[in-house]
Amino acid sequence: MNKSILKIISKKNKSKIICLTAYSKNIASIIDKHCDIILVGDSLGSVLYNFSTTKKVSLDMMIEHSKSVRMGVRKSLMVVDMPHNSYRNSKEALKNAKKIILRTKCDAVKLEGGKKIYQIIKTLVKNKIQVMGHLGILPQSATNFRFKGKKLIERKNILRDSKLLEQAGVFSIVLECVETSLAKEITKIVAIPTIGIGASLHCDGQVLVTDDLIGLNKIDARFVKKYLNVTKQINNAALKFKQDVIKGKFPSKKHSY
Ligand code: KIV
Repeated sequence: MNKSILKIISKKNKSKIICLTAYSKNIASIIDKHCDIILVGDSLGSVLYNFSTTKKVSLDMMIEHSKSVRMGVRKSLMVVDMPHNSYRNSKEALKNAKKIILRTKCDAVKLEGGKKIYQIIKTLVKNKIQVMGHLGILPQSATNFRFKGKKLIERKNILRDSKLLEQAGVFSIVLECVETSLAKEITKIVAIPTIGIGASLHCDGQVLVTDDLIGLNKIDARFVKKYLNVTKQINNAALKFKQDVIKGKFPSKKHSY
């Protein structure tokens, strides 16, 4: 394992891991200093492209956005989501993970799932590819978006999967919308960090979609806290620009040649 991955793992039980998403250079360069991990999430499908599901996100889309993000990341670990249908078997996963890493210079990739992708993850890790796991709600295959861990069978499966992912060699696991006591239990039993989104404060770190955090994305989910209303600020700026243009206040001499 490389140094930056070991640094993330060593934070477990010491200090919280901060992770945010970025889909472009400008956002990445602002959040970089505050993050341990920057994730190029396939959530870009719904956030930027209005897709009804992340299933429509392609490998090329992930690569192009990640190339932009790479230009803004200096210190954080950069993780890129492998999109739907890019890791259906070990051979395909290895080919596509290598392509993502080569083209984007990211540090790691993230895959959704547990038992079903155990062998695939093992193959990637064996080939020195750093992998982040993802359990709980799995948007690439979800049929509903209800939180996980209410039913006993769900709890058993997620617990089993978290142990399997650790065995397969992932360096951390995202827990998406996992019931509080289950997230706490997983965090206790695995030696690698858990990164929660809607999975309580018991996780070793937290991740949010930056567009949600800044109020740029219209979302009304319980797990989102809006720290800023950037929509309002952009609206105000655009309105001011419009008024200045109409009144002949812009461009002034200062902005002319
Ligand atoms: O795609 C994404 O942004 C994610 C996070 C929500 C964890 O997977």
